[in-house]
Amino acid sequence: MINVALMGHGVVGSGVAEILLGHKADIAKKAKEEICLKTILDLRDFEELPYRDLFTKDFASILQDDSIRVVVEVMGGVTFAYEYVKACLLAGKSVVTSNKELVAAKGHELLQIAEEKNVNFLFEASVGGGIPVLRPMAQCLSANRISEVVGILNGTTNFILTKMVTENMPFAQALSLAQKLGYAEKDPTADIEGHDSCRKICILAALAFGRHVYPEQVSTEGISTLSLTDVEYADRFNCVIKLIGRAKQTDGEHITADVYPALINRSFILSGVHDVFNAIVVRGDCVGDVMFYGRGAGKMPTASAVVADVIDCVKHLTARKYLYWEEGAPDYVVSTRSSQTRLYVRATNGHPASAAVAIAKAFGDDSIFTIKNNSSQEIVFITPPGQESALRQKIAGLTCLHDPVILRVID
Ligand code: HSE
Repeated sequence: MINVALMGHGVVGSGVAEILLGHKADIAKKAKEEICLKTILDLRDFEELPYRDLFTKDFASILQDDSIRVVVEVMGGVTFAYEYVKACLLAGKSVVTSNKELVAAKGHELLQIAEEKNVNFLFEASVGGGIPVLRPMAQCLSANRISEVVGILNGTTNFILTKMVTENMPFAQALSLAQKLGYAEKDPTADIEGHDSCRKICILAALAFGRHVYPEQVSTEGISTLSLTDVEYADRFNCVIKLIGRAKQTDGEHITADVYPALINRSFILSGVHDVFNAIVVRGDCVGDVMFYGRGAGKMPTASAVVADVIDCVKHLTARKYLYWEEGAPDYVVSTRSSQTRLYVRATNGHPASAAVAIAKAFGDDSIFTIKNNSSQEIVFITPPGQESALRQKIAGLTCLHDPVILRVID
């Protein structure tokens, strides 16, 4: 029998406890070992629960208990989570976490400690909730050189954008509906400003390209400034707007990594991912494109990924799993400004027809698609492909465009 401790009994933690206790016999068959949830660390009291006797408020009782071989961290945040996870790994316990903030900030260091101590540090639930993506990337796609990982990594923002596109719902109303349905947090900043997607693309990029990517290295834009107007124009260009996390290998030594709202052409598979669903496309040189799709958030989907990692730890108590990446470097992540892209531009102008002539002169009239809206005095266009910085420079040079909104386009 292997004893497990759980740190945190919030949404995901309670799901983990329910699965470990409720599926005990099935899990024992799969792990070829009985897995016993011995202790749950939480500062709150849960007197109403049938397993209330398992609770402790004392981390040291977990750390000092040599019979506990696997510890699950689902407390969130970095401060205490980092301190406790590090201490558990140093004490020779395997650790499973769903905490993307922790892995994005400290993943390399914690993986290194796990390697030195010959224990496992697994975090499948940190990206894509219940979607198996990290293990398949590290294991099933390991024969490939991965050139790109791009995905819709946040369920809350995808729900909001879906409502804006399909029901013409303004951003604020869609956000409040997401909160009412329990998708968005009371403070939705991390979701709508892109920080949650940023942490996830850091983890995916580290795994895909073998080197730690820190959140500060990822240029991150959210969706809070998007308007229904852009959503409507995107539709007229046969596109939908999605919040994208994207990491690309550039020259073998560097990568780009960004989070931004983009116009996605309806011919690209990510355009069909709606509501709270997440999808991650991984581009390998041998396999081509592979997409991982499913519920990226929620109590039981996320807990299912955590418990699967616990079972994996129990099955590999004396062997290391395959997850590892090197330390990051300050100049490792470079700007996308030298990459090729097309840009969507919406700007006000007193004379859309004459602005169209200036735009055609700057970009060539065959390859740009322009909408002139005389009633709102707006002009909207998509540039031909080009180096992003050069395209932006040309746009800045068009003095006829006032307050342009600029978004990248993915075909
Ligand atoms: N708040 C996240 C989302 C789930 O909406 O996708 C946890 O990462």
